[in-house]
Amino acid sequence: MDKREIRKSPYDIKQGKILDVKQMTESEKSFKIALQGGDLLDHDPGQFVMVSIPGIGDAPISISSSPTQRGYFELVVRNVGKLTGALHKMEAGDTVGIRGPLGNGFPIRLLEGNDLMFVAGGLGIVPLRSLINYVNDNRRNFGKVSILLGCKSPTEMLFHEELSHWEERLDVNFSVTVDSAAPDWRGNVGMITSLIPGVDLDSKRTFAIVVGPPVMYKFVINELLAKNIPESQIYMSLERHMKCGVGVCGHCQIGGSYCCKDGPVFCYTKVKNNIEAL
Ligand SMILES: Cc1cc2nc3c(=O)[nH]c(=O)nc-3n(C[C@H](O)[C@H](O)[C@H](O)COP(=O)(O)OP(=O)(O)OC[C@H]3O[C@@H](n4cnc5c(N)ncnc54)[C@H](O)[C@@H]3O)c2cc1C
Ligand code: FES
Repeated sequence: MDKREIRKSPYDIKQGKILDVKQMTESEKSFKIALQGGDLLDHDPGQFVMVSIPGIGDAPISISSSPTQRGYFELVVRNVGKLTGALHKMEAGDTVGIRGPLGNGFPIRLLEGNDLMFVAGGLGIVPLRSLINYVNDNRRNFGKVSILLGCKSPTEMLFHEELSHWEERLDVNFSVTVDSAAPDWRGNVGMITSLIPGVDLDSKRTFAIVVGPPVMYKFVINELLAKNIPESQIYMSLERHMKCGVGVCGHCQIGGSYCCKDGPVFCYTKVKNNIEAL
């Protein structure tokens, strides 16, 4: 094994310097990180990294920025436990361990030339944003683009400024809905499934990419199938508790597949028998 192969090993932990931290909502912060030594993360949209803090532990976190964004990458982290809590206490200038990029990412070559419908529920917008910004930066390689976003309430909405840019673009169809809102909310109120019937699409050339909480998948997929989108053109990104992140420990199995190595992005045909258990 030469030095380059050793550096590329999925077990190799690189040091990442936090360049900037932003509070996004009450429980989510975004982190702008650069690998020390000027190394590029060189990821595909949909991949994740294992973030580690010595003495605390590690956790898989999606890469939220597009690879078209050079020089640094972005993570958006919800504070739910040990690692994420410790990360939320960190500031610009601190360093974390970064292993990866890991996992397969979205099938970009397959998506090229086709119409795309992105369906993001809650924190699902975090990994999807990487692909959406990649598509927007390479817009001529893709057909029609629709982005459907659902949140519990307007206060839980992430990336406000970026959402406004997507909404303003003439080559993107953007809709957002919230489960409930104060009377001053002027947008849609209802589940994300309520946005799907209104999308004008050619089912033969539309790929749907769905990311959200487990409870969402079954209902969204029923709506997509009702629009005659073929099962083989529905992709989703899934989460499982992970340890190794590279298909060795067996912690993250979904049916016969490992979420860390064979996923986290799966075609619906591959996981449809496990959809009830997600
Ligand atoms: C591919 C992938 C991408 C992800 N991307 C993101 C992201 O972009 N942003 C983000 O905020 N989160 C993301 N997550 C989720 C994140 O990895 C988890 O929230 C992580 O476990 C938090 O680690 P922690 O040490 O802070 O929490 P922990 O202290 O481990 O606890 C978190 C919660 O999970 C429970 N838990 C922990 N281990 C287990 C287990 N083995 N079985 C059952 N329950 C358990 C705990 O009881 C607690 O409720 C992603 C997960 C995956 C698999
Ligand atoms: S986390 Fe070890 S096999 Fe997936």
